[in-house]
Amino acid sequence: QKEGYDYFMLKEIHEQDSAIRDTLSEKDKIAEIISNLDGINRICFVACGTSFHASLTGKYLIESMSGISTDVILASEFKYSANTLDENTLVIFISQSGETADTLKALKVAKKTSKTLAIVNVLGSSATREADFVIYTRAGPEIGVAATKTYISQLVCIYMFAAILADNKELLNTLNEVPDYISEVLSKEDVIKDIASKYSDVNDFFFIGRGLSYPTALEGALKLKEITYIHGEGYAAGELKHGPLALIDDDVPVVVVLPPGDNYKKTVSNLEEVKARGAHVIVIGSCENDFIKTEVEDSFCINDKVKEIIAPLLYVIPLQLLSYYISVERGLDPDKPKNLAKCVTVE
Ligand code: M6R
Repeated sequence: QKEGYDYFMLKEIHEQDSAIRDTLSEKDKIAEIISNLDGINRICFVACGTSFHASLTGKYLIESMSGISTDVILASEFKYSANTLDENTLVIFISQSGETADTLKALKVAKKTSKTLAIVNVLGSSATREADFVIYTRAGPEIGVAATKTYISQLVCIYMFAAILADNKELLNTLNEVPDYISEVLSKEDVIKDIASKYSDVNDFFFIGRGLSYPTALEGALKLKEITYIHGEGYAAGELKHGPLALIDDDVPVVVVLPPGDNYKKTVSNLEEVKARGAHVIVIGSCENDFIKTEVEDSFCINDKVKEIIAPLLYVIPLQLLSYYISVERGLDPDKPKNLAKCVTVE
């Protein structure tokens, strides 16, 4: 069933445009759930791994558009915050499998005090039976251990939730443009393949981004660790100078997640900082900048028409491909990383 692809992960990366189209069909269901949420004045996301990174994106979207205070808690750390929940808190559990032990345990605790919503890919999984409300990500089965198309589908659900909550019709309409932009990104896959072959034997990578691009940077680093066994560290670009800059030299490539928009200039300054320490910089994003054109050796340029707000839905794709091709280059099986399982049923 790999349909001509070498690995499931690559097939699933290529299914992301259709995964988004299918998930967009959940819009009315999400609107109906939101109409039942009277009195909610706080939102709390709970998740693990890649689902945690999707949740972080949700915090940025909900707080900036609705002003509702939103926390994101790792499911394995949830018990320390459980006594802050009340009946006015909505707790949103994000899980591809709907079976992750830490997430399920937190769900059982949260439902004692608060309304619970599960955003899940696997139909009929345990989380869907426990939560008050359920939204399905319509990504279809994901075989590769690394979450790819389910991450994008989680993000789409979160975007729709945040947009409907804030009555932001413009954002809802913009989401319909994303599948075509994804096809455009995937058509330039060879650019990433070439970059991957240059960097397949390094020991450390940094991934940096600001605002909505920070969770994308974290996700890029997680994918790298998971399937290439190279150390990857995701960092908020503005935090580099508070410690990690000491680690940067010409052995450490830095991937800069750089959409056009409000954060562009400041992120370019951070790029210049690492460049000045000898780092090899890989830009993912808007290349319309003289410094990038002349000084940066590797870039994957993304259509400047893509607004910063929807960048997380596209910018993660070159990062998934980067890890995939490095993994293959190193002779590994990206579908079955060592020590990891698709579904983590132990705490
Ligand atoms: O099924 P879940 O979304 O609850 O799984 C959570 C994590 O185990 C999962 O996202 C993991 O981090 C991925 N394999 C990363 O690609």
